[in-house]
Amino acid sequence: MKKRIEIEIEEYYSLEELADKDRELVQKAMAATDFAYAPYSGFMVGAGVRLKSGKILTGNNRENAAFPSGSCAEDTVISYAGANYPDDPIVTLAISAKTGDSFTLYPVSPCGNCRQIIAEEEDRSKQEIKIILYGKDKIEIVKGISGLLPLRFSKDRLKG
Ligand code: THU
Repeated sequence: MKKRIEIEIEEYYSLEELADKDRELVQKAMAATDFAYAPYSGFMVGAGVRLKSGKILTGNNRENAAFPSGSCAEDTVISYAGANYPDDPIVTLAISAKTGDSFTLYPVSPCGNCRQIIAEEEDRSKQEIKIILYGKDKIEIVKGISGLLPLRFSKDRLKG
């Protein structure tokens, strides 16, 4: 037997096409790239989350001379949100990145580790997280982590 998994991806071609709230979040994520600490890769990532209350928080990547000790922007902001607003679920996450002064042309998609972190946060807060991937030429939106990490490892699997 074979099964197919269907993933719905919304595509936009400019910030102006986004709903006001989503555009605002992406712009905050873009601004957060300014404070990224990425002296080794030069790839400056900014992530923003909108909480259910409407509050917006941002984070960026924090690199380390011992490379594996660095943190991704998504990890930084999701950890901060959970640590400080544990009962205010994340409803939307926006991700952007630039090298030098130029934002990437293609949408920035979270790494595998961050996908697992986003999945755990959805489980913890019982709230699907809309994910906006920003690129200058294309913006992609998926309605939840299932759109980026189907067949994922989840806490149910720990039960055997
Ligand atoms: N990075 C992120 O912050 N988020 C991602 O989803 C992908 C990669 C960071 C990690 C590292 O500091 C730099 O980008 C290059 O991989």
